[in-house]
Formats: sequence, structure tokens, C-alpha cells
Amino acid sequence: MATERLAVIILGASGDLAQRKLLPALFSLYAQKLLPADTRVFGFARTPLTDAAFRERTAANLTCRYTPDAHECARLMEQFLSRCHYVGGEYGETDAYLDLAATLRAELGELNFNRLFYFSIPPSVFLPAARALGNSGLTTCDNRAGWTRIVIEKPFGRNRASSDELVTELGHVFADDQTYRIDHYLGKEIIQNLLVLRFANHVFEPLWNRHFIRDVRITWKEDIGIAGRAGYFDDFGIIRDVMQNHLLQMLALTAMEPPQQLDAHHIRDEKVRVLKDIAPVTLEDLAVGQYAAAEHGAGGRPAYRAEHGVPPDSRTDTYAAAVLKIANDRWRGVPFFVECGKALDSKIAEIRLRFHDNAVKIFGAKAPHLPPNEIVIRVQPDEAIFLRINNKLPGLETKFAPTELNLRYKAAFNTVIPEAYESLLLDVVKGDKSLFIRADELAASWDVLDGALRELEENLREPELYAYGSAGPRGRAKLLKRHDLLPEHTA
Ligand code: NDP
Ligand code: BG6
Repeated sequence: MATERLAVIILGASGDLAQRKLLPALFSLYAQKLLPADTRVFGFARTPLTDAAFRERTAANLTCRYTPDAHECARLMEQFLSRCHYVGGEYGETDAYLDLAATLRAELGELNFNRLFYFSIPPSVFLPAARALGNSGLTTCDNRAGWTRIVIEKPFGRNRASSDELVTELGHVFADDQTYRIDHYLGKEIIQNLLVLRFANHVFEPLWNRHFIRDVRITWKEDIGIAGRAGYFDDFGIIRDVMQNHLLQMLALTAMEPPQQLDAHHIRDEKVRVLKDIAPVTLEDLAVGQYAAAEHGAGGRPAYRAEHGVPPDSRTDTYAAAVLKIANDRWRGVPFFVECGKALDSKIAEIRLRFHDNAVKIFGAKAPHLPPNEIVIRVQPDEAIFLRINNKLPGLETKFAPTELNLRYKAAFNTVIPEAYESLLLDVVKGDKSLFIRADELAASWDVLDGALRELEENLREPELYAYGSAGPRGRAKLLKRHDLLPEHTA
């Protein structure tokens, strides 16, 4: 029988993700009583820390979003922190996990509790950590002793081959049904709403296809550089960091067919189907670049190659845009322009579906250039969904104004919007895999980019530079032009 006790074991607990996102998310769930009452958190990493020091670091990032009453929040924080423990050790050493097991036993008694292992470590350590963990015996349990699950962060591999290998090798330690491959964009509120928006509203589905939609744009921009993550980023680059996962996941949910049922199996079947229908991207349909110093006063906005830890001759791309084509009946001929980049002109993540031009031309000279309608799904900041329409300006004359039918979450819903990691961690505890990446889904998304990534690396070309804070490299505009994509409107 499953136990109500839960140990969350975070590998890499000293790191950025654990401190900034995972521990605060666990506290939020704890404060809302959404975790089993007897939940303990065990941080594990190489940095030597006492329990007290780990608690102090953790406390600095916890928030009272769900508990506005200051006294109650302080009480819950204290309670939560007293349940946080820390064990230091090397990720690839079995003995370190034997120490961890001893601490778990000391805190929780025999090992008959549910175990959630979170790999919040660099991808280079995934396998040695999994193997050593497996050898320690800490991952084996039978049904009487509760469940064991592993959450593994992205990027999952460097290409199709290494991703397949990682799936196989991790499979020797954790069965597939224990493995939760996370892409935190799937936990974002608006992304979770995509299936509801598309399939719970009869008004959209008849329009959601090539007969009405001219093009789809999925944009992901950050207005800061790599923020001290050179060690990881320079090895991976933006295509592996964002396009292969966050962008293709957003695309899959935007473009997939309705699942037969709303469960993990059927949803992921449909995502795989549409990912497999995307033709592998060619270099002609890809624009890449690397940020240079800001044009006006580089202060605090240095070139990528001047960032701490980046080799001065690095060719790593910090911007990428691609035009993807989906070879199925719904989308044939519709360009999907997906772009992602660091150090750009704004911070935004959104999906735009632009309609064909209005075929009804009755307004003549009064409105010679009516802009096309658009559905905009803004993931962040300020979650929103709006429909851009043409409207008559109020007044005695017939004048036209593009305007918006608007759903802005902050104004519409008087509620706290959950953080992606809150939502996804809760799903792992519940055993719901709908929002986690299945192995065939992972393979299909690598297949879209694998060839282009290989060619880019073999070419040894110098990246096209773009100024920090600009709209991206010149190749972006060329790509838009090549596919006859209109310049964007601003929201
Ligand atoms: P960090 O670079 O902060 O690394 C996490 C911890 O791993 C560090 O505190 C360090 O702990 C240990 N570590 C770092 N480098 C090495 C190394 N070369 N060898 C062994 N151990 C090392 O990473 P993040 O916390 O930013 O990310 C963790 C994982 O989550 C990565 O896979 C990343 O891609 C993914 N991710 C991160 C996001 C973020 O916002 N940060 C968002 C989405 C995914 P110690 O030295 O104490 O062992
Ligand atoms: C991560 C990327 O997956 O997502 C980072 O590795 C990026 O490069 C981050 O900054 C952005 O996440 P969010 O939730 O802040 O948009």
C-alpha cells in the first residue's frame, strides 16, 4: 500500500534552479497543503552545507504568495524549513548516496516512503548520477514500500543519438513509468490552457487550419544575456536550450489534432503525430546569430564573447529563428515561424496565429489596407489571449481602427497564477504524466533539428552578430522576407 510519506530529493540543491524555482514551488505546495503532511526535502550537492546553512539559503527565496497573512506564512515557512535537510557528496559516487540513504532513514525510519528524485544538475552529470544512485539501492522499492519517481531536467541530450542513448541508459536505472522528463513551459498557465482554448470552444476549431490561418509565429525572447550560465550555455546554444524543447512543445500543442481523450497517453500520441509531420529544418530556413555589445553604451550589456566564462572565439548561437512546415492536411502550406533569442529588444513568449486577408472588399477607399485578424496567446509576461479585429472608430464617420477583443488574466481572474514548477511538481506527486515528455516525443522533436544542428557545427562559420537589445540578426529579416511573412504588430 502506498505510504503518505514523501521524500523529495533534489540533486543540485545548491544551484540556481533548485534555489530559485524548485524549493519555492515545494513551499507553495506545502503551504497550500497539497503535499502529503509528512513531506521532507533532502538537498544533495557537492557544496558542503550544514542543514542550517541550507535552510538559510532556501528561506531567502520563499514567498508568501498563497499565504498573505504574515504570521501564518512565517509559521508555515518555519515548519517547512524544519523539514529540509542537506547531504553533501559527489554525484557519481555510490557511497555519497549511501550517506544520503542513512540520513533518509534517520529522518523517516525504514525506506518505506515515496521517493521523488529531482535531477537539477547539468546534463553532463545525469548519467553518472543515475548509475551511482541505482548502485546505492536507493531507487529500488517494491509496491509495499511506496513509489520512486525521477524528474529529469532539459536539455535531454545534444542530438537525436545522444538523447536516445540517454533514454536507454537511464532506463537501466529507472523504468519509463518512473521517469518524468520535464519541460517547464508545459506547466505555464497559458500553455496548459491551450487545449481548453482550442477544444472547449466551438468558435476556434473550425478556423484553426490552413483555410483561415496564413501563418503562425511562436516567439520567445529574453532581454538579458546568459546571466552567468556560460559553462552550460556555451556548450549547448539556443537551439538546444530553447527551440528543441520549449518552442517545439508550444508548437505541438498549437498544431496537434484533438486527442480522443484528455489523458497522458492520448495527448502525447497527438503531439508525437504532429511533431513527426514537421519536415526537418534546412539551413535555408534557419537564421542564427550571436549577440554583440549594445550599440549605445555597452555598460552591463556586453557581447556574448565578453561574458564571464565564454571563450573569446566562441561560435555558439544565442539567437535562432526557423520556418517549419507541417505536412498534414490541417497545416499544409502554413509557415510556422519560430524564434528564440537572448539579449533581444524585449522579454516575451507568445503564439500568434495570423488569418488570411479579408476576402470581402466592400470598404474600398475607406479602408484600403485593413490588417489581417490575429489570435494572440501571450504566455508571459502578463498572460493574455486576444483577438485582433478591425473595428469602426466610434463617431459620425466610418473610420477603421485595429483593436482587440481582450482577455488579460490579471484583470479577468482575481487569483494567484501558479508557477510552472508548482503545477508540474504536483503532477509528479500525483503520478500524472500528461505534461511530461515521452521518449518518442523527444525523438521526434530532435529529428526536426538534428540535421541542421550537425551542418551548423560542421560548417565552422562565424555567427552573424546582432547588437544586445536589438531585434536580432539580419538573417531574421531575410527569413521573414523569403517566406513572405509580414512584419509583426505590437501588442
Ligand atoms: P547550475 O549550473 O546552478 O547547477 C546546479 C548544481 O549542479 C550547482 O549548484 C552545482 O552544485 C552542480 N554543478 C554545476 N556544474 C557542475 C559540473 N560541471 N559538474 C558537476 N556538478 C556541477 O544549474 P541550474 O540550477 O541552472 O540548472 C540545473 C538543471 O536544470 C540543468 O539541467 C538546466 O539545464 C536545467 N534548467 C535550468 C533552468 C534555470 O532556470 N536555471 C530552467 C530550466 C532548466 P555543486 O557544485 O554544489 O555540486
Ligand atoms: C530555461 C532555459 O529552460 O528557460 C533558460 O535554459 C531560460 O535559458 C529559461 O532563461 C526561461 O524560463 P522562464 O520560465 O523564465 O521563461
